[in-house]
This record gives sequence, C-alpha cells and structure tokens, in this order.
Amino acid sequence: MDPALHALRAAIARDHRLDEAEAVRRLRAAQPDKAASQRITRHALAFARQVRTAPLDPLSAESFLRHYGLSTREGVALMCLAEALLRIPDAGTAGELLREKLAGGRWVLGEDPGSWVANAADWALMLTGTLARWHDVSNVDPAAQVKRAVARLGEPMVRGAVRQAMRILAEQFVLAETIDEAVGRGGARAPYRFSYDMLGEASRTAEDAERYFESYTSAIRAVAASSRPGRVFDRDAVSLKLSALHPRFEEAQRVRVFAELLPRLQSLVGLAREGGIGITLDAEESERLELTLDLFDALARDPDLEHWHGLGIAVQAYQKRAAAVCDWVVALARAARRRVTVRLVKGAYWDGEVKRAQQLGMTDYPVFTRKTATDLSYTACAARLLQAADAVYPAFATHNCRSVATILELAGDRSDFEFQRLLGMGEALYGALLAGHPVACRMYAPVGSFTDLLPYLVRRLLENGANTSFVHQIADPAV
Ligand code: FAD
Ligand code: 2OP
Repeated sequence: MDPALHALRAAIARDHRLDEAEAVRRLRAAQPDKAASQRITRHALAFARQVRTAPLDPLSAESFLRHYGLSTREGVALMCLAEALLRIPDAGTAGELLREKLAGGRWVLGEDPGSWVANAADWALMLTGTLARWHDVSNVDPAAQVKRAVARLGEPMVRGAVRQAMRILAEQFVLAETIDEAVGRGGARAPYRFSYDMLGEASRTAEDAERYFESYTSAIRAVAASSRPGRVFDRDAVSLKLSALHPRFEEAQRVRVFAELLPRLQSLVGLAREGGIGITLDAEESERLELTLDLFDALARDPDLEHWHGLGIAVQAYQKRAAAVCDWVVALARAARRRVTVRLVKGAYWDGEVKRAQQLGMTDYPVFTRKTATDLSYTACAARLLQAADAVYPAFATHNCRSVATILELAGDRSDFEFQRLLGMGEALYGALLAGHPVACRMYAPVGSFTDLLPYLVRRLLENGANTSFVHQIADPAV
C-alpha cells in the first residue's frame, strides 16, 4: 500500500475511541469564522420560519409528529407493536401477541392517563382515522378517547386499527414494494434524483443474503433502464447495505468476507457500471467501518472499474474517526484516479453504538456523546469534501436547516454537489431549499415489503422522536 494512504488508515484506527474533548478541540479549528457563522444563523432561521409555516399534508408522518410528538416511551410501545405485527408470520399469533401488549387491563382500563400504551394506541387510532382525525381532537384527553373507543369499538377493531396504523406509518417511509413500481413513482417526482435502497440488512442466513443479492441485481437493472440520461452523478443510483449481502459481515470473518462478499459486490458494481448508474455503500454499525473501507478500497483499485466515477460511500459524522475517513477517501480517490461520491450523514445508529460500548465495558465511545460535537464534525467533514472537488462529488444528507445553511455558506459559488433527504422526511425544508437555490437534490427511497422494514422504521422513529433531533425541535415553537 502507498505509504501516505497507509498513514491515513492508521489515523482512522487511532481516532476510533478518541477522547471527546480532544476530538472537539481539533474540530473547532475547522469551523467557519464569526461573520460566516452569523450569515449561517440568519439563513438557518429563515429556513426554519419557512419550514414552520409550510403547509403539510395533515396525515403525513412529519405533520403528525410535529403536532403530536413521539416520546421515547411511546416509541418503545410502537416498536413492540411493530415487532408483533411485522415479524410474526401468521395472523393468529400476531393477534395473540397484540392482545398481550394492548390488553392486560392497563390500556383497556386506561387508569393512568399518561399510560404509554394508551398514548401509543391512541396515536395509532388517530392516525388511521378510526376515531377521528387527530387534529380535530387534539384538545381532548387522549387516554379518555381511547377508553371510549375501546368500549365502543371492541378490542379486535382496535387491534385492526393499530395494524393499519403501522402500515400507514410504513408507507410514509417506503416508496413501493417492488423496484418496478418504485422507479415508476420516482420518475414522477422531478426535480429529485433518487437513490433506491432495497430494504433489508443484517442477513442471518446464506439464503437471506442470496435473496438480497437478487433484489439488488434487479434493482440496478431497473434503475439503469429507467433513469434519465446524464453524468453518473446526476442520474438515479442504488444504495447498498453490505450487511444484507453476507450473513457474517463482521471483522472476525474477514477472510470469508473477502472470499465471498467481494466477488458479489464486484458483480453488482460491474452491473451498475454497465448501466451507467452510481452505487453508494451505506454506513452501518461502527464495528463494520474498517471492513467497509477495505472493500471500498478493493473496488476503487479494481482495474475492471477503471475510469468509472460511479462509486460512492457514506461517512457518518458522529463517529470520532469521520474527519480521518474523509481524508483517506480523498487520498484513495486521487490514487485511483477517480472521483467518488461521498454521502455525508450524521449517523443513524447512535443509541445502539452507545449501548454496545457500555455493554462491552469500553473506556470510550466510537461516537460523540454530545449532539453539538456531531454538528461540528459534520461541518469539518463538509469543508474537507468541498475542498477536494477533483476527487469527491459531495452529497450532503441532512434534514437540519442549520446544516443546510452551513453547506450553502461553505460551498460559495460551487455547484457540483448535491443535497439528499429521506423519503417521508424533510419535505418542507427541501421545498424551501429548492424554491430559493439552484441546487441538486436526491431522495433516498427505500423499496421492499413490510417484513423487511422494521430496523429501518425503528431508526426513523428514533430520529423523529429524539429530543436532540432537529426534526423534533422544529415542531416545538418554544425552541
Ligand atoms: P440533526 O437533528 O441535526 O441530527 C441528528 C443526529 O445527530 C442523530 O441522527 C445522530 O447522528 C446525532 N446525534 C444525536 N444525538 C447525539 C448525541 N447525544 N451525541 C452525538 N451525536 C448525536 N445514516 C447512516 O448511519 N448511514 C447511512 O448510510 C445513511 N444514509 C442516509 C441517506 C440520506 C439521504 C439521509 C437523509 C440520511 C441518511 N442516514 C444514514 C441517516 C442520517 O444519519 C440521519 O438522518 C441523520 O443523522 C439526521 O441528521 P440531521 O442533520 O437531519 O438532523
Ligand atoms: C438507514 O438505513 C438511511 O441508511 C440509513 O437508516
């Protein structure tokens, strides 16, 4: 390996569980100056005002969450319901489990008006419209509503409503069940470009991994056939989760991963190259990062992919290693004489990362523990990526007004980059952004059946519900 690249990889390893104060000290040096910060604040506030006044579909998840909120306990309740509803193969068992979760006295009797199950069930009921539209009854005590609803409708009806609510919620975040339907719907949503994601991750068996490989293969073919012509950066793309493509995508199985997963990956990427569309490797749990980088390195140096600029990778700013990862990706792209897409995200696995580090008794975390540190890291990484235009096509994935304003400030006159949002989120912010700025935007659109949805849905609900989260705070006029 080239010694400069080797040194950059060593820096990534060194920063894995870096002391947070030291990490923040380094990041502070890479922030915009005072005048730029003031411009960013003004711009962010202008976006925030537009978001707050934008009309929203009253039954969208965003509108609902803005009005009603989703506390962690309700989130847990919903996850329990989702677990029962989406994972259990037969209706009878699902019904039994739901009965156990919903009945047992507390919810049915509703003795505690703040009961988390009552709130979750009420939430679900209102979402389905079984009771009434939530905005019509928002000043009525929800627990009392549920009690009356159960008395009037009976438990089976309520269970049906909860099931229906999960489906409605899922539909906010999933574009379609099949890729053919999805590309049809995506094509109608100009001016967005799309990155299609085939739902599925953490395969448990070789059969699962084979099934996901097949679904990615057909997705790449369908997207290549339907996408508008243009540069690879401007066309629709496909996002891959490596954990879906191998049942043991983990450090301890490194030899197997290279023998079995790399050839699969090369085949998928080869197909994307033939079709002229891009592929981005999603970022998953932090312990998969080094393996992901090694596979990305192998693809970047693959002679069969020479002169192709469709390779992409997601980088999570909440990892203490993020800035070092950006430096390495830039150097690798230059060494391999290709431009790669880097999707900068903050990271969707924060709760799991913190819990795992604690379970393992680690001395420090791989992720920042303060939200503001993640924001500093996001800005520092963005600046690095924008300064490496020869090597990187940057894609800034965020639903945060201040992050968007920061990118616009850092980018200045540059226009060869894009913003990205998730389907079902950031609708109003992106409306304001597209209306006021000539920037490119991509929508990340999951495709698949409800049985594969749960982990993705849990991450979206955590993201919407966390009180540190921008989408949660924008809903509170006092903030
Ligand atoms: P903000 O509210 O500004 O940030 C929320 C984020 O801050 C949290 O998600 C977390 O990352 C971080 N955070 C919250 N609390 C703390 C804390 N106490 N300490 C430190 N950090 C904290 N995520 C992935 O992991 N991998 C992907 O491949 C990926 N792809 C995506 C693609 C697209 C198009 C988009 C829009 C998102 C993608 N995400 C991915 C999800 C992304 O990580 C979250 O949507 C993102 O973190 C939300 O950030 P924000 O700027 O919108 O919101
Ligand atoms: C996730 O799956 C969007 O990749 C991100 O949560």
